[in-house]
Amino acid sequence: MMTEAAPSGACLRGTQVHKRFDDDMIAIDTVDLDIAAGQFVALVGPSGCGKSTLLRLLAGLTTVTSGELTVDGLTPRQARAKERRLAYVLQDPTLLRWRRVRDNVALPLELRHLPTTEVQQRVETALQWVGLEDVGQMYPQQLSGGMRMRVSIARALAAEPSLLLMDEPFGALDEITRQRLNDELLELWQKRGFTCLFVTHSVHEAAYLSQQVMIMGPRPGRITAVHQVPFAHPRSADLRTSPAFAGFVRQLSADLTQAMAAEHA
Ligand SMILES: Nc1ncnc2c1ncn2[C@@H]1O[C@H](COP(=O)(O)OP(=O)(O)OP(=O)(O)O)[C@@H](O)[C@H]1O
Ligand SMILES: [Mg+2]
Repeated sequence: MMTEAAPSGACLRGTQVHKRFDDDMIAIDTVDLDIAAGQFVALVGPSGCGKSTLLRLLAGLTTVTSGELTVDGLTPRQARAKERRLAYVLQDPTLLRWRRVRDNVALPLELRHLPTTEVQQRVETALQWVGLEDVGQMYPQQLSGGMRMRVSIARALAAEPSLLLMDEPFGALDEITRQRLNDELLELWQKRGFTCLFVTHSVHEAAYLSQQVMIMGPRPGRITAVHQVPFAHPRSADLRTSPAFAGFVRQLSADLTQAMAAEHA
């Protein structure tokens, strides 16, 4: 039995978001965002264009230099402190090396003081989901890079977030595992209704998963195009091989190529 009500999705707004680091590096120039509750949005763009920075801003791990960024009307830091319903999978999985896999996944739930049995149940479910039910007793350094990434994904999902931020979560996985996790992520998203912002370098993955694809580039970060994805959910493996899907992916690739060309001009 769950002791918490299932969260609905968070809504994200950004107005003229600008991020400059201390060394004067402008990572995000001007970004406007409007993501409705429960949306699945993919973010693609050339390396170094500011995708991870945008996710870190939304996660409240760093703050905007100017402009406004809100999660359900609060600053990301306030949103995080209030609900603890914000989960993220960063590009480098940040696992605590002195905690076993199982205890890493449990950590956000322990911080929320959930009952032990519920924590255990959620941890087991999440580990099964990412196919790691057999390594709960191991330590992160005993795992491969892809396995560590999956632990980080399990930790995020066990938290049952209202906002899930994912930064190339499946990049290090083999194609079959990646497709399986794509389908399972979509199933969970449809069941739970969280908002998802998903960074990927694969236009196929972006098109397959999301309702909307934002293209970022050139550096410093700006959103140069937003595509509505013209395919209904639930999606199935058939979609991946359909001509309509191939056409849409081509269109995305062309936009991305243009963004990259502008960067190198
Ligand atoms: N903490 C930091 N201090 C200074 N500069 C930073 C910092 N973090 C990122 N940057 C710079 O900001 C820019 C955007 O970086 P970011 O990591 O957001 O790119 P990205 O789009 O996620 O790239 P990739 O696709 O390679 O992951 C880069 O030029 C990077 O060097
Ligand atoms: Mg990145």
